[in-house]
Amino acid sequence: MIFGRVKPLDAILATAEKKSLHRTLGALQLTLFGIGCVIGTGIFVLTSAGAQKAGPGLMLAFAIAGAICIVAALCYAEIASMIPVAGSAYTYTYSVMGELLAWSVGWALVLEYAVAASAVSVGWSGYFTGTILNQFMGYELPAALSAGPLALGGAPGGFINLPAVVIALLVTWLLMIGTNESARVNAVLVAIKVSALTAFIILTLPRSELDNFNPFLPAGVFGGFGSGVGAVGAAATMFFAYVGFDAVSTAAEETKNPQRNVPIGLIGSLLICTVFYVLVAAGAIGSIGGQPIMGPGGIPFPAGSEELARQCAMPAYSGMLVCSNEALAHVLREIGFSGVGNLLGIAAFVALPSVILILLFGQTRIFFVMSRDGLLPDGLSKIHPKWKTPYVVTAITGAVVAFAAAFLPVGQLADIANAGTLYAFFMVAIAVMMLRKREPNRKRPFRTPALWLIGPLTIAGTLFLFFNLPFEAMIVLPVWAVIGFVIYYLYGYRHSHLGKGIVEVPDLHEIEPHAPPGTENQ
Ligand code: ALA
Repeated sequence: MIFGRVKPLDAILATAEKKSLHRTLGALQLTLFGIGCVIGTGIFVLTSAGAQKAGPGLMLAFAIAGAICIVAALCYAEIASMIPVAGSAYTYTYSVMGELLAWSVGWALVLEYAVAASAVSVGWSGYFTGTILNQFMGYELPAALSAGPLALGGAPGGFINLPAVVIALLVTWLLMIGTNESARVNAVLVAIKVSALTAFIILTLPRSELDNFNPFLPAGVFGGFGSGVGAVGAAATMFFAYVGFDAVSTAAEETKNPQRNVPIGLIGSLLICTVFYVLVAAGAIGSIGGQPIMGPGGIPFPAGSEELARQCAMPAYSGMLVCSNEALAHVLREIGFSGVGNLLGIAAFVALPSVILILLFGQTRIFFVMSRDGLLPDGLSKIHPKWKTPYVVTAITGAVVAFAAAFLPVGQLADIANAGTLYAFFMVAIAVMMLRKREPNRKRPFRTPALWLIGPLTIAGTLFLFFNLPFEAMIVLPVWAVIGFVIYYLYGYRHSHLGKGIVEVPDLHEIEPHAPPGTENQ
């Protein structure tokens, strides 16, 4: 019953073949695309939250999260090269484990894409208010308008994060009217981000002092179930810094020689990001220190909490890494490189909107596919006659993203996004293994090496990170799933095209632009 209504793989593949897309992307473009999706709020902003959770153990946290993403990426690469169609994890699950579980994955991907887009919008807001408004224009946006009620490091008194709302709506509007980002623009943005991080490393590492790494694990390795602190608690949060790499798999059908290039793109971008992240964490903590502010019982105050915000408002703590809304620019300013700090702030200001664009694009396309499968109302997949975009679903998604960005702190949004993403990765690992058993002879343009080791490692890794999230984020997933199942039984179960015996597969190519942002040759 649970595996009922499986969409035949051949029907999916037949549609994919019909599309005959130009295969234009090579390994370098895919790697650049991966880096473009991945580097964002995680490293530029959440570094402070990570330090508050683990102190110098943040370096270990980045390494753990990166390693788990790499094994997950190997699983993604096999299934993405076999089923190179839109909808990613949702579509894979539909063809292997059936409609109910596919729905649960599609529903969880809302957390990955939409909530992550909210988190990046809030992260962008920190740099906009700090660098652009404050440093360049000398204007201090009132706390009530620059943060949600409980934003990280902000003095209590926030009400709405206005800049985050504006950027989320602006990006939504660009997507609605069909603006896409070309591969060339993506390459420029990647160059900006990588230059900013490289400058950061070059300036901070030589200023590092060994004393700043002592104690290395002030909150231990395991901070305790549901606490979200310690090195693995930080790993569960910093996983966010890698979210988005699976977008590379969505470009599989436009890739030349996917057998070679998809894994290079996925793993190459992840390896490069992991090295940058560990070095950036070392530079940040080594140069100005990054010990957590401890609460009662020697346990760090939760990142993003009101207690922490209150501590940070005290003059003795105000310059600390863990209190900053623009972590990396703050470190550079503290060590006397204000000019470079401001340039880094501009880099974040310019580059983060493209991460929002990619995440929102991913969300709208998944909703689009689900609606064309009959699991969501048809009206959602309406295409605008002039813009050729799924404007209804884009507008609704954008409004929800803006709403969440208005009121929630970046750390909590990131943790919630992580919960949904970890579930999707977990399901993809199971799907790849089931498909290997069930259809061993089907053509696999890329075969995961040592799948019977990599698959279980992915499952174990995703479960491990999930159970080290803060309790409030962990609990969101089952609550979200229950809401999803109610909607499914009230709507999707009855309206499902597959349930009605229709097995056509949505063709995304009637909408323009069809390639993910950052991959189009223009
Ligand atoms: N990995 C992306 C970021 O850190 C979502 O902003």
